[in-house]
Amino acid sequence: MKIFSGSSNKPLAQKIAQQLKIELSPLEIFVFPDGEKRVRVIDGVVEQDCAIIQSTSNSADSNYIELFFIADALKRSGACSITAVIPYLGYQRQDHIFRDGEAVSLEVIVETLEAVGITKIITVDLHSVKIPELFKTPILHLSALALFAEKIKTLPKKESVLISPDMGGIRRIKLLSEDCGIPFATIEKDRDLETGKVTAKNLEGEVRGKRAIIVDDMISTGDTILTASELLLEKGAGEIYVFATHPVFSGNAKQTLEKVKAEKIFVTDSINIPQEKKFSNLEILSISGLIASSLK
Ligand code: R5P
Repeated sequence: MKIFSGSSNKPLAQKIAQQLKIELSPLEIFVFPDGEKRVRVIDGVVEQDCAIIQSTSNSADSNYIELFFIADALKRSGACSITAVIPYLGYQRQDHIFRDGEAVSLEVIVETLEAVGITKIITVDLHSVKIPELFKTPILHLSALALFAEKIKTLPKKESVLISPDMGGIRRIKLLSEDCGIPFATIEKDRDLETGKVTAKNLEGEVRGKRAIIVDDMISTGDTILTASELLLEKGAGEIYVFATHPVFSGNAKQTLEKVKAEKIFVTDSINIPQEKKFSNLEILSISGLIASSLK
């Protein structure tokens, strides 16, 4: 197998290649002054199984375009299979129509992934378990939950409760609760679709004096985590930990997350976090092993 890395998350691609004991295959990615990209596969790939590692956030559009071009270049160069490893699948939150007149953006992305010749998709912790149904291409949906469970089990002993910061995370929190043997509580979240403002309300479950461990699929602006943690502290939680798979960290996420009174905020390397977006209580867990095993 040959592995190629797009430009969005080279550190993760390097780690995956190391675990598979192969070198990343070279790619030429040239950006023209107007922002257009030109992609060229350098080594021969005729009749080869190829994998492309590309996360699609910040900017989702540019990273998707690059992925489409790499896939097209591989297809035209004779690759016999093309697996797209998309640790963070951009546009996944736009998987249905929320209000009349909207596009189903994820469906457009799925159709394009198929049109450029990708034969298999590997992705991690999708926002909704129904998303794979949109794909005709085989899709392997991995999860970082086992990694989180492992970490949670190493935390100093204290009565704990797992928290889903919105009702969409219930399935995830139930699975983790079973694995860790820790009860769970849920928060009802409202997001104003016009302004994006998040409100956390109606905590179901007891948190007083306990360690509250918030678990989410992604952190984008950080507002969900901030409002959830404020509600939990107001309800008497003793301390807060946060686990989220995808550090999208858009806009002022760093400043918002610095306001969260958490002991630690754990995320994965599904998205590469630039140095300027990191903060002191952030810890990054690697999903490279998980992905490498799925490529073997
Ligand atoms: C939404 O339902 C997701 O599970 C996350 O809670 C959300 O995307 C996080 O976004 P933000 O950090 O902007 O609140």
